[in-house]
Amino acid sequence: MAARWLVGQKHQVVLHARHEGRAREALAGVPGAEDVLVGDLAHLDEVKRLAEAANATGHFDAVIHNAGVYRAPGEVLLAVNTLAPYLLTCLVQKPRRLIYLSSGLHRQGDPGLEHMTSGRAHISYSDSKLLVVLLAKAVARKWPDVYVNAVDPGWVPTRMGGRDAPDDLAKGWETQAWLAVGHDGGARVSGRYMHHRTVARHHPAVDDISLQDEFLTTCERITGIALPMPLASEHS
Ligand SMILES: NC(=O)c1ccc[n+]([C@@H]2O[C@H](COP(=O)([O-])OP(=O)(O)OC[C@H]3O[C@@H](n4cnc5c(N)ncnc54)[C@H](OP(=O)(O)O)[C@@H]3O)[C@@H](O)[C@H]2O)c1
Repeated sequence: MAARWLVGQKHQVVLHARHEGRAREALAGVPGAEDVLVGDLAHLDEVKRLAEAANATGHFDAVIHNAGVYRAPGEVLLAVNTLAPYLLTCLVQKPRRLIYLSSGLHRQGDPGLEHMTSGRAHISYSDSKLLVVLLAKAVARKWPDVYVNAVDPGWVPTRMGGRDAPDDLAKGWETQAWLAVGHDGGARVSGRYMHHRTVARHHPAVDDISLQDEFLTTCERITGIALPMPLASEHS
């Protein structure tokens, strides 16, 4: 829905899908999209190839990290919900805006990082979404030249949310599309956790700078890829 709206606003939109079949369906669902990139986010090698394909496509103004899983083994929750957005952030040429889909459930997550290495089988959806907010906060601090934010779309009736989800589906995609292209001051912010275009309450641990750094180091250790740091000249 975000992609359809962005195309309607005359933006060039590139989609992403897990495999060729879903890619065809995604393109059919968003008439006017430029292209679709393919890669299963559960496999780090595919994520790396996806980043290469994204860079070969061009330089993106904004990237919305939307894909996610809710019911899956801990390994898959960590790979898709946390490590894939980390790796794509590291490897895709730096855009002007980055948006990460988190969830209100992240507030029930455990901010301990041990489960990223030794206790992966026990990682929960909430843990993985807490780590996404930590990622957004860390990248916002490390890359002051990029608007970097996390979004809680609400509990909305998608396949993940289920038919009976109580929140408004339209409001579930608006905030990330606005953060991607909005020109008003509200959208040109960084390091925020947002719900329905306003700053929302997040888990207090994600503001801990040493936890943010430890998280980036842990992601680097797992993936073998470090977050690129801006050159000193880029700060001036
Ligand atoms: N719905 C809610 O109430 C709710 C609440 C809070 C946060 N969120 C977050 O909002 C985002 C969008 O969720 P949604 O509600 O739209 O869920 P959804 O209907 O289940 O869609 C999830 C998307 O992620 C893709 N995906 C999952 N695993 C993948 C993988 N290994 N490789 C590539 N793509 C993969 C799915 O592709 P396929 O279609 O091919 O499976 C699908 O396009 C997620 O990050 C979710 O955690 C949703």
